[in-house]
Amino acid sequence: MSSIDATHLPAWRLLSERVRDLPHLRELLDADPQRFQHFRVDAPGMRLDLSRQRWDDGIRGQLVALAEEAGIDAARRQLFEANTFNPTEGRAVLHTALRTHAGKSIDVDGTDAVAAVHAALEGMRRLCTSVRNGSWRGATGKAIRDVVNIGIGGSFLGPAMVCDALGTSDGPNVHFLANIDGTEAARLLPALDPTRTLFIIASKSFGTLETRSNALTVRSWLLERGIAPEDLRRHFVAISTNIAAAAEFGLPEANLLPLWDWVGGRYSVTSTIGLPIALGHGYEVFERLLAGARAMDEHFRDAPLAANAPVLLALAELWNQNFLGTESHAVLPYATALDLLPDYLQQLEMESNGKSVRSDGSPVTTRTGTILWGNVGTNGQHAYHQLLHQGTAPFSAQFILPLAPGHTLDEHHDWLAAHCFAQAEVFARGRSAADVQAELEASGMIPEAAAAAAPHRAMPGNHPSTVLLLDDLGPESLGALIALHEHKVFVQGMIWGINSFDQWGVELGKVLGTTIHGALTDAQGGAHSVDPTTRALVALYRERRR
Ligand code: F6P
Repeated sequence: MSSIDATHLPAWRLLSERVRDLPHLRELLDADPQRFQHFRVDAPGMRLDLSRQRWDDGIRGQLVALAEEAGIDAARRQLFEANTFNPTEGRAVLHTALRTHAGKSIDVDGTDAVAAVHAALEGMRRLCTSVRNGSWRGATGKAIRDVVNIGIGGSFLGPAMVCDALGTSDGPNVHFLANIDGTEAARLLPALDPTRTLFIIASKSFGTLETRSNALTVRSWLLERGIAPEDLRRHFVAISTNIAAAAEFGLPEANLLPLWDWVGGRYSVTSTIGLPIALGHGYEVFERLLAGARAMDEHFRDAPLAANAPVLLALAELWNQNFLGTESHAVLPYATALDLLPDYLQQLEMESNGKSVRSDGSPVTTRTGTILWGNVGTNGQHAYHQLLHQGTAPFSAQFILPLAPGHTLDEHHDWLAAHCFAQAEVFARGRSAADVQAELEASGMIPEAAAAAAPHRAMPGNHPSTVLLLDDLGPESLGALIALHEHKVFVQGMIWGINSFDQWGVELGKVLGTTIHGALTDAQGGAHSVDPTTRALVALYRERRR
């Protein structure tokens, strides 16, 4: 698969020229009182304020031209049909099929992907109904009270984020067991009644070490607590593409929900991997999540590039990173319900676009991927915002504020919104030393003292940010928020010419981890790493643990 070098495109060259003499954001904002209207984009479930991006009409137009020259118009349509977007794994990329209406058809290697999705959804619906109405019984005949999702990465972060965002479930309690760190299992299992707990083994490959280890620990735990081997099937279901491995674990096909190669793990929350959402909150809620994602899919596919929320969000961040030199991107949800969103987006963005070669194997010639981090406002204001306001590292930010917060403590929400808007304003405008000095003098400080204090209180500003106003925290809005970012990542990956859908970079560490595990646990010391520091650490560990 050949891929473009976007840095050779005419629009890229013109954009490079625009960086010189670009005014401070404060000046851009002051120059146009209608700037908010000019840079506002409405999309399903949300409104985006892009007026505090450090761009003007001309730059935005040139970025849209870049997207056109990079073939985004055709690419976005191919994302809704059989395609070859993942050549290094030989797979199509079709997460949009997960929320396509029944009746449409997308042929993948002779199978209709949409029909397969709807058959799986029906299986999911039946399973949810039986667990939630109590007809699914545990080994001793009791209904299920707790559900534990055993999975990691894409088989964990999306469902955990959505369950957390939706709040208290009206069905069984939903828990997540992801990490190989035994602390998680050791803390969770004693709180559960084995006869009333259903475990979901969520693993596309069914080969992920963390998931397999946790599943084996749980199986032993159930057996030790008197669940007979033949009754384990009442306490386990699995979601995987690997039917053989699930069968080897002891799960009959009836306990398996399918997944498909054309859904990447980090793009799988709207697949059967979303089962914990449906079990906890009801299958209808999951359907509403799909509807929200579908609405964003349609917006992405059909809206002109210049009025397209995922496209403009992608272009704004590309401009920030590749032209203005921002080093990281802070995702700041002003919503405790979205506190797992930065974790979820970290995998989506960084596992997708952290690549050094283009799809054809040639080295990239510009920075790709984005170092994404963040957590909920207003907590960050009392921690790392100091560095954001007065530190030296250039960054961009995305604020997310739900207009309807899902509670009735309106005075809290007014304060939360006020702080969100205030931070975005200060990021953009900053405060000059001269202004600080004048204010201090006006408040009665003598000029010498004011002059000495001013540099410590000045803030450069000029930090680009987007404010995303989410309608609410309902499933439709969450589905739209997920699809917005999926498509943003896609657009950036296409412009960078990379494959956003493989993740070979995570493999070497897994292989080495297995070798080192042998060295740690074998009586003879097992195979050794070639690295002397690793060997020394292994020796120290063995000595201390003996
Ligand atoms: O190791 C990375 C990764 O492969 C992710 O891409 C994936 O989401 C996660 O592991 C879990 O994989 P699986 O669902 O196959 O267990």
